[in-house]
Amino acid sequence: MRYPPIVKKVPHILHGGDYNPDQWIKWKDTIWKEDMRLAKLAGINTLTLGMFSWTALEPEEGQYSFEWLDELMDMMAENGIAAVMGTPSGARPAWMSRKYPEVLRVNEFRLRNVHGERHNHCLTSPVYREKTRAINEQMARRYKDHPALAVWHVSNEYSGECHCPLCQAKFREYLKNKYKTLDALNEAWWAAFWSATITDWDQIESPGSPGNGGHNGLKLDWRRFTTEQFVDFYLNETAPLKEITPDIPCTTNLMAAYTGIDYARFAEVFDVAAWDSYPQWTSAEGNGEIGLRTSYYHDLMRGLKRKPFMLIESCPSATNWRPVAKLHRPGLHKLQSLQALAHGADTVQYFQFRKSRGGPEQHHGAVVDHQGTENTRVFREVADLGECLKGLDDLVGMDTPVETALIHDYQVRWALEDVKGLLQEKTGYGETLVNHYRVFWKRGIPLDIIDSRQSLEKYRLVIAPMLYLLREGTAERIDEFVRNGGIFVATYAAGYVNESALAFPGGFPGPLKETLGIWCEEIDALYPGETNSIKWDGRTYRAFDLCELVHGEGAEVLGVYGSDFYAGTPALTVHHRGKGRAYFIAARTGEDFLDDFYRRLTGEAGIRPLFEELPEGVTTHVRSDGKKNFVFVMNFTNGKKLVPAESGRPGIALEPFEVKILRSETNL
Ligand code: GLA
Ligand code: ZN
Repeated sequence: MRYPPIVKKVPHILHGGDYNPDQWIKWKDTIWKEDMRLAKLAGINTLTLGMFSWTALEPEEGQYSFEWLDELMDMMAENGIAAVMGTPSGARPAWMSRKYPEVLRVNEFRLRNVHGERHNHCLTSPVYREKTRAINEQMARRYKDHPALAVWHVSNEYSGECHCPLCQAKFREYLKNKYKTLDALNEAWWAAFWSATITDWDQIESPGSPGNGGHNGLKLDWRRFTTEQFVDFYLNETAPLKEITPDIPCTTNLMAAYTGIDYARFAEVFDVAAWDSYPQWTSAEGNGEIGLRTSYYHDLMRGLKRKPFMLIESCPSATNWRPVAKLHRPGLHKLQSLQALAHGADTVQYFQFRKSRGGPEQHHGAVVDHQGTENTRVFREVADLGECLKGLDDLVGMDTPVETALIHDYQVRWALEDVKGLLQEKTGYGETLVNHYRVFWKRGIPLDIIDSRQSLEKYRLVIAPMLYLLREGTAERIDEFVRNGGIFVATYAAGYVNESALAFPGGFPGPLKETLGIWCEEIDALYPGETNSIKWDGRTYRAFDLCELVHGEGAEVLGVYGSDFYAGTPALTVHHRGKGRAYFIAARTGEDFLDDFYRRLTGEAGIRPLFEELPEGVTTHVRSDGKKNFVFVMNFTNGKKLVPAESGRPGIALEPFEVKILRSETNL
């Protein structure tokens, strides 16, 4: 399957990045002109403008000054460079904070911030919403017919929360709409505990400050509300863009590691997923693990819309905010860029095109350094990539064929973060997901990372580690998937609570009990260094951190615990149900167990890797339109590697950090 290009008039891999030309208005006759030359020389076909330009665009309230941007847009069009147009709400003019203090964010201690930096705005403030909408409308009207306009990049890294009186009132409104009665709210929050019962909507306070850490239910609702605030804020920003320029896609730059917003919900409103990737590469062998985690994030971001996404920011060299701003070793730039494409990106964009002379990011890697010319290693590597991307038009819009899904749910993560019990700080939802993912990455078996509300129809194997909280309908969807022949894997800490963080009565894993054919009676948490074991298939594997005590209720016992008072009881089970089966891994294990377990499962499911053997630190990923395939073979180590020859295919030799792209026209 092939999706249309993100920008129809630019049917190429988009290559470019954040450009902050308003910092150079005074020098525009030299610097801007030179920038156009340098961009073309680097094979750049798109630049992002406007993102932090509010003061340059509206120096006084209601007085707009677009002339400089007009000139630049024309220059870009003349030079064949498309504009990703940023809306400026990420940072605002000082006059606005002075005149309307309500636009400033209030922290969890109920203290209002002073003006400065960025991302410092209230999400409710009617004034801020009106002002952002107005400037966006101006921009849309001005450039709607401009040949350079390609994408709307809305705001910048939406994040944080605001606790001002306006936001408190809106939170109460949200809860009123959700629960209708205080009785329903009190029950959902189990408010009788510690006398937390609310008797008037006005008593409700956002959680987070000392004295009001918050009940689990309240905290979950606050995070959901905060997500809705961003959804709503985004919709307010995009309303004029959608109306005036309906054909221009809108997106916003996400941070894959950020968990303050339920991105799966947020994704419903943007046209294409886009994210900022800043892996902390090292110079040593350790890059394999960093490559793996970066792949995980790419897949997480692709899973939001299950279609090609944008690598909307990345760094061609040292990232200034890292504690150690290490240079990218030669070759890493190309590797990280092609890795994104391998995992479904249709763009390679940077922060930033030209280094700013001053300000907090003056030392952040850029295509053009302070030295100002093309005569740098980084520039040459970017230009070299630009050349390579020109040969990849055929990749644009290609799907990522997968048969396996890993369920990642922001709301499960939130519920687990709030858990008192289990292992608390080491509950490790994110790490657990990465550990399961690692097995597939090492073998080059692609998978989707999806939210628990997404449909499971297209998969053969679905893995849901630590599915602690079950959203409405998830258990039913999983059961149907299994009965229809799917293979499902759940682990310890599954099916404990409903969407309000209320424990399921009748035992765990709650509504998944029948699917898994088990009942979990207790869960043991182990001290650091303590271990138990799982005996399965003639081998003994280490178990640690969390060991759940399980009774089979229809499931077959495959593996048992090796020690402690629950020695000999089920530690690994399978339940045959309908045409499929559901596995349960009762304890946290190391890589050895997960490797063997999934090797067995993928074998049974007929899910085959592209290559039988991959050396350590090497992985593959594939994109395909169903007829043509691009197989990316990537070496994340600083050593030479060889993918061994297999029947009908010679070995593949890889230089340090090299990527080979194999094109084929066979059925994979
Ligand atoms: C983020 C922001 C950019 C810039 C970079 C620096 O991704 O969106 O504006 O600050 O970080 O890495
Ligand atoms: Zn507010």
